Amino acid sequence: MLHRNIYRQVLMLLCAILFTISLVQAQGKLPNVMVLATGGTIAGTGATSTTTVGYTAATVAVDRLITAVPELKKVANVKGEQVFQIASENINNDSWLKLAKRVNTLLAQKDVDGIVVTHGTDTIEETAYFLNLVVKSRKPVVIVGAMRPSTALSADGPINLYNAVLLAGSREARGKGVLVALNDQINAAREVTKTNTSTLDTFKTPELGLLGYMQDNRPIFYRQSTRKHTADSEFDVMQLDVLPQVDIVYGYANVNRIAVDAFMAAGAKGIIYAGTGDGSLADPVKSALVEARKQGVIIVRSSRVGQGIVARNGEANDDELDFVVSDTLNPQKARILLMLALTKTINTKDIQRIFYAY
Ligand code: DGL
Repeated sequence: MLHRNIYRQVLMLLCAILFTISLVQAQGKLPNVMVLATGGTIAGTGATSTTTVGYTAATVAVDRLITAVPELKKVANVKGEQVFQIASENINNDSWLKLAKRVNTLLAQKDVDGIVVTHGTDTIEETAYFLNLVVKSRKPVVIVGAMRPSTALSADGPINLYNAVLLAGSREARGKGVLVALNDQINAAREVTKTNTSTLDTFKTPELGLLGYMQDNRPIFYRQSTRKHTADSEFDVMQLDVLPQVDIVYGYANVNRIAVDAFMAAGAKGIIYAGTGDGSLADPVKSALVEARKQGVIIVRSSRVGQGIVARNGEANDDELDFVVSDTLNPQKARILLMLALTKTINTKDIQRIFYAY
């Protein structure tokens, strides 16, 4: 009898050891994904479960975001860091430099396979594009947000976070540039934009199209961005503490020169003009921009339209005015590229090359 008990205990101990080994081996096979939290609606809370507007963004800490999705443990070894906790309309150049430096430092570590950044949706497209230009690695970086606060009925944050971690830990996402993943869709940082103030399907790449889908616990890609990004980028912010001031002037019927003059007086090094149509320059604003150019300010003609190419020497003689055109970048992304270009050059021919390369 005693022998049988000892035998049974030894057997149970062996089973426990084997189970632990298999668990550790399984964990060893899972990718190591860091979740860097910055705030936004994905970390938001509302007064009731049906509050989907008028909630407070940036209140839930990263560890709670992760523990709210226990399924993450099955797909990755996840660790979280709270880089900052803000509504993303308040993100600024300092935030971007802090985030980019942290991303690059972590990606240089052998024990980090990919990174997820949780972020407010208002400026996801800008942070994503900034990181697309300054991350010095081919490892996946996925930006994710939510359109409903964490307290809402059918909150989209948990499934978006789950898919983002899956994507960041996947081989398929390597070398694709920074990706924006919400609503089961994968978009490229360069082209994605927020197209609706409040619906779940707000992130789209209207004409050039999404890259793929998250479906059945895996990414399925159909295309990839053709422009330079991440490890192939010439930009490096690791030693930078400040970025040049670049502002945006919005074009509209009856536009005047006041905004241009104000930005010049404030010391802007570059001005993006979000022109009507194909970046058209109304006379009052054109003369102000010409004066700004003469004083050394770099002028980029973009468009408020949102889609299509702003053609060089189309609506204005850019060669004669010594202006740059934004190609297909919307004004807020053209601002980011010009800021980074100005850390390298003030030569307008070189800056135009940069706008055709990224
Ligand atoms: N305040 C907005 C932001 O943080 C909320 C929108 C959102 O995160 O979905 O971007």
